[in-house]
Amino acid sequence: MPADKLLITDPDTGSNVELPVISGSAGLPTVDIKKLPGALGYFTYDSGFAATAACRSSVTYIDGDEGILLYRGYPIEQLAEQSSFTEVAYLLMNGELPDASALEAFRQEIRYHTMIHESMKTFIGGFNYDAHPMAMMMGIVASMSAFYHDSLDIENPAHRRLAAVRMIAKMPTVAAACYRHSIGWPYAYPSNALGYASRLLHMMYSVPAEPYEVDPVAANALDLLFILHADHEQNASTSTVRLAGSTGANPYACIAAGCCALWGPAHGGANEAVLRMLNEIGSVENVPKFMERAKDKNDPFRLMGFGHRVYKNFDPRATIIRKTCHEVLEKMGISDPLLDLAMKLEEIALQDDYFVERKLYPNVDFYSGIIYKALNIPTNMFTVMFAIARTVGWVSQWLEQCETPETRIGRPRQVYTGDAARDYVPLTERA
Ligand code: SDX
Repeated sequence: MPADKLLITDPDTGSNVELPVISGSAGLPTVDIKKLPGALGYFTYDSGFAATAACRSSVTYIDGDEGILLYRGYPIEQLAEQSSFTEVAYLLMNGELPDASALEAFRQEIRYHTMIHESMKTFIGGFNYDAHPMAMMMGIVASMSAFYHDSLDIENPAHRRLAAVRMIAKMPTVAAACYRHSIGWPYAYPSNALGYASRLLHMMYSVPAEPYEVDPVAANALDLLFILHADHEQNASTSTVRLAGSTGANPYACIAAGCCALWGPAHGGANEAVLRMLNEIGSVENVPKFMERAKDKNDPFRLMGFGHRVYKNFDPRATIIRKTCHEVLEKMGISDPLLDLAMKLEEIALQDDYFVERKLYPNVDFYSGIIYKALNIPTNMFTVMFAIARTVGWVSQWLEQCETPETRIGRPRQVYTGDAARDYVPLTERA
């Protein structure tokens, strides 16, 4: 049973303070340090917040040592096997699985908001064709606060929910519009007769000239990938959404901030980076050379899709995606040498002391790009796919924060390493 308080003593003065220990429903007991500066005159330092809880949350639980991921208590393996992305979105937002009528009502609510304001197309049209789709998406999501004034009041629960549903519903439409703009195709309107993933594929690939049938294998694979990417505790982009939300920023601005943070190659941009890395490695013969580069501290190259701040065991999502890779490629009759290369790379890395000692395993991004590629999704759209799915986690965590009375503006401190106070020197007197 963990202690309910920790006694901290300053050895120089002999002063001490009892710090309360907070225990959640799972995970490590957590020391509440807010009294420390006032009692003993010390701050704490935790670069990258590796050992710091920033909030209380009941949305998602991760056990990095055991490779466990729960959405509102439900294991990701069971949701991947039995649920749908829309149902998982309902679960993450509301905390419970819906009954049939609630699920259908939620589906209808999403369908009702899939279109974007026609003026947004002018905005999208203003980008050059070769703009990165994430660059377009970031701008378009932030611009939603310029269009949807009926959902900006974060003190109004109805406004908050409307904004959350709008973003879940519109992200696929925005994503498809960015893609169509980049290839010079006319925008396609959402077809509300289709399911969530099918609707996206239809908006991306249908052409006015002829009917387009969505491949159910592709739609099911995409729906599964969306489930696996929906939420992940307090990762960098979700923490960005929460920090923006703690200032009272409107929901569209908060989700746009999440998109910006997600784009980094150390985070959601890794799936695109993995494909580029596999193409750069090219063949199994080249793997040893790249493994050496990944271990060389003077070389910025890292094995993209490997390692995780929390998982020091297999990322359960990677295990599911690896299995799905084989299934999808087989069903679609595709033989992708990049999958063979990825499998070989994983095999070699997991036998290498450097990776074993550092507990670097494949993460969610290592295999996902191979499935996206099989669905003809261009590499520069991979992070956009991640953003569509993670919007559910972002809005769920943002709603939870808005409804948490103890929420205060996030404002970390620092260890100051600059100059002590000094007097200004007029220009004429400077050396
Ligand atoms: C996601 O947080 C989340 O939950 C994120 C995510 C989500 O769903 O939201 O799971 C999604 O972002 C997955 C991660 C995708 N990123 C990548 O695949 C990029 C490659 N991975 C690394 O950049 C890295 O592993 C991180 C960013 C994922 C984790 O970084 P940490 O926790 O800060 O680890 P670290 O950089 O301190 O690494 C520890 C050691 C270091 O070596 P030493 O200094 O101990 O000698 O491991 C090495 C690192 O150099 N290392 C790697 C490596 N990852 C870590 N070496 C080579 N290749 C790698 N990929």
